Order: sequence, then structure tokens, then C-alpha cells
Amino acid sequence: MAETPEITFRDMQPSDAPALYQIECEAFSAPWSISSLTALACAPNAVARVALCGGEIVGYYSLYRSFEEGDVNNIAVRSDLRGQGIGTLLMQDMLAACKQKGIDRLFLEVRASNAPAIALYEKFSFKQYSIRKKYYDATEDALQYALLI
Ligand SMILES: CC(C)(COP(=O)(O)OP(=O)(O)OC[C@H]1O[C@@H](n2cnc3c(N)ncnc32)[C@H](O)[C@@H]1OP(=O)(O)O)[C@@H](O)C(=O)NCCC(=O)NCCS
Repeated sequence: MAETPEITFRDMQPSDAPALYQIECEAFSAPWSISSLTALACAPNAVARVALCGGEIVGYYSLYRSFEEGDVNNIAVRSDLRGQGIGTLLMQDMLAACKQKGIDRLFLEVRASNAPAIALYEKFSFKQYSIRKKYYDATEDALQYALLI
């Protein structure tokens, strides 16, 4: 694995939306729109953070909280920088932010074919608890994972 670049984190801002949209388009077949990303950055019930390298956004994650629970919306790293430990740093930041805000359990869904994401979640001890058959495009299963922080 290449050496992890120097990364800093901060809360997502509405003006980040265009840069986030570019990463969304690389990462997901149904990307969030710029207006959804702008709304996410303003949502009072969201925990949404970006990873920066040399002043540029290189990754991000977001979740919606409800009391002590968090539902992860997305986590993504710019495609040319994957496999260098940035996803791991994003997940560490997510867990630290949750602890700090009193969120003690996380839920997420992931495509059954998404080996890198599944490896990242399992590295952080997320456990699969269920499956939604043909959830994506009526063809691909969603694996449901949870973590008690
Ligand atoms: C999932 C994602 C965020 C991981 O980011 P990343 O920066 O590549 O992650 P890291 O380099 O920190 O690697 C984390 C772990 O994932 C695993 N991993 C990384 N790349 C992998 C690959 N191509 N295949 C299998 N496992 C992989 C490894 O287990 C690695 O841990 P290790 O190096 O300690 O063994 C990134 O692949 C991504 O943005 N994917 C597209 C968006 C996406 O699918 N998000 C999840 C939606 S549910």
C-alpha cells in the first residue's frame, strides 16, 4: 500500500457540494445531486465531514443521526487516491465524531459486490446482521451492517 498522504478533516460546508459531486459521480451509480449535497451540509441532524489533502477534498462521509443511532449515507475517497489509507482515516474520524456526539451505534447498507467497502467496514468491526435481497436496481443484494461503538 502507498504511504498515506497528510490528511486533515473538517465539517462539510455547502460550498463543498461541487467537489463532493465529482467524487459522488466517480463512486456511485446513483450520485447525490449538488442540491442534495448542499442540503446535507446544512442538515442539523447530519454528521458530515470532509478529508482534505493539500487544500483539496479527497474524501468524505456523512450520516444522519436519530438520538443515539446513526445511519451512514456515504463514505467515499477520490478514485485516484484509494488504497492509501484515506478510507481508514475517514472511518476513524467518523467513530471519533460519533463518540463525541453521543452516537453509540451505526447502521449501513452496502452492495454485496463492493469488496473494498465491506473490507473497510469489517476492519472496524461492523457486523453483518441482515440482507436485503435485490435491493439495488432490483438485482443486487444489500448487506446490512451495524456497529456498537
Ligand atoms: C470504500 C472506500 C471508501 C475505501 O477507501 P480507501 O481509501 O481505498 O480505503 P483504505 O485504503 O483505508 O483501505 C481500507 C481497507 O479496505 C480494504 N481494501 C482497500 N481497497 C481494497 C480493494 N481494492 N479490494 C479489497 N479490499 C480493499 C483493505 O482491507 C483496507 O485495509 P488494510 O489496508 O488495512 O488491509 C473506497 O474504496 C471508495 O471510495 N469506494 C467507492 C465508494 C464506496 O463504494 N463507498 C462505500 C459505499 S457503501
